[in-house]
Amino acid sequence: MGKELNVGLIGAGFMGVAHSFGFRNCLPVWNTEYRPVMKCMAALPQESAQEIARAQGWEEYCTDWREMVKREDIDLVDVCSPNFVHVENVLEAAAAGKHILCEKPMANDLEGARTMLEAVRKAGVKAMCGFTYRQVPAIRLAREMIQSGELGEIRHFRGAYLQDFIMDPEFPLIWRLQKEYAGSGALGDIGAHITDIARFLIGEIESVSGTLETFVRERPKEVSEGGTKLTDRAGSAEKGKVTVDDAAVWCGRFANGAIGTFEATRFAGGRKNHNGFEINGSRGSVAWNFEDMNYLQYWKDGEGATQGFRNVLATSDQTPGFENWWPDGHIIGYGECFVNEMKEMVDAIAEDRDPVPGFEDGVRCQQVLEAVSKSSEEKCWMNVRDF
Ligand SMILES: NC(=O)c1ccc[n+]([C@@H]2O[C@H](COP(=O)([O-])OP(=O)(O)OC[C@H]3O[C@@H](n4cnc5c(N)ncnc54)[C@H](O)[C@@H]3O)[C@@H](O)[C@H]2O)c1
Repeated sequence: MGKELNVGLIGAGFMGVAHSFGFRNCLPVWNTEYRPVMKCMAALPQESAQEIARAQGWEEYCTDWREMVKREDIDLVDVCSPNFVHVENVLEAAAAGKHILCEKPMANDLEGARTMLEAVRKAGVKAMCGFTYRQVPAIRLAREMIQSGELGEIRHFRGAYLQDFIMDPEFPLIWRLQKEYAGSGALGDIGAHITDIARFLIGEIESVSGTLETFVRERPKEVSEGGTKLTDRAGSAEKGKVTVDDAAVWCGRFANGAIGTFEATRFAGGRKNHNGFEINGSRGSVAWNFEDMNYLQYWKDGEGATQGFRNVLATSDQTPGFENWWPDGHIIGYGECFVNEMKEMVDAIAEDRDPVPGFEDGVRCQQVLEAVSKSSEEKCWMNVRDF
């Protein structure tokens, strides 16, 4: 049995549960050198949180995350709180010398994200940003293909992350719809994912031109008592202002000469978690969509009359990120991405190296988001490096 790595997790919502799944399965699947021990889950004092902590397998539950991050027996702090809490969570955890995994987007704004990066550098701790989709084997295969030159020169990135959960104007004003708690709306929540996927696959985004829109500007104030699903949320008769974007669209130029289009919306009726992209190169194309996440569509130039996209089932022992899962073709799902994510975090600590994606990736992503937001305000192109 390897060395134990004691984890303290902040947040008992959707991500608190997803990360718990990741930690529970990390050792059995990947036989990691370190064994993550689910020591303590911290959340707001809500009845549901204590039950969630118990059901997810945490040894303890507490309502004071500050106390938890200072505990001598905690090695890794996992930040699954709403965006506005990330900065203080991370600064305190870094000051206490803990390794950190922090959900995306890193913070409400770029300044906060930069402060977090500085703090973990100063503390000399390992820090990872939770861009989960990097852990999808089909996406990692796409990256290998792009890097080996199989697609030739990359020309287009076409990414869209589409949801529809706030189309009902009676859906309550949850923290995700308020700037002070979320920083931005669809842009930072799901636009952050497509931005990171684009950076992971194609490289840095140099300039952007975008526009944001809020379709429903007032909603019932939330009266929910926690829970892990959006359907747990309830509203009151009193209304409050929506202060973030409902949808964001932008185009961008990459440092390597490729051009891209991006769309992030929670108003795409019928689309639940439709996160997808297509990339076209001079010799081939790939396309992927989360709702069919095990497949990578691949088109290769020069195949004559039988040409066309084919579906590559990206689940073999040669597919990066799938090696220790099931026999070839026995597909995986959302939860498994978190298991892969925890493996990377735990391995980085054991191997004394920086995890990928790191806080630098979180900051770079936030720079792009800030540039898109400013571009929408000023109605012109923005250079990402100016942010
Ligand atoms: N990687 C992904 O794919 C992915 C998916 C969803 C959410 N996220 C990110 O994960 C984070 C959490 O999102 P979620 O969907 O789990 O939210 P959620 O609303 O479901 O849960 C938030 C949890 O944080 C706790 N909390 C709230 N305020 C707190 C405070 N001040 N101190 C301590 N705990 C507090 C709440 O008790 C709740 O348990 C966000 O940053 C979000 O952007 C990432």
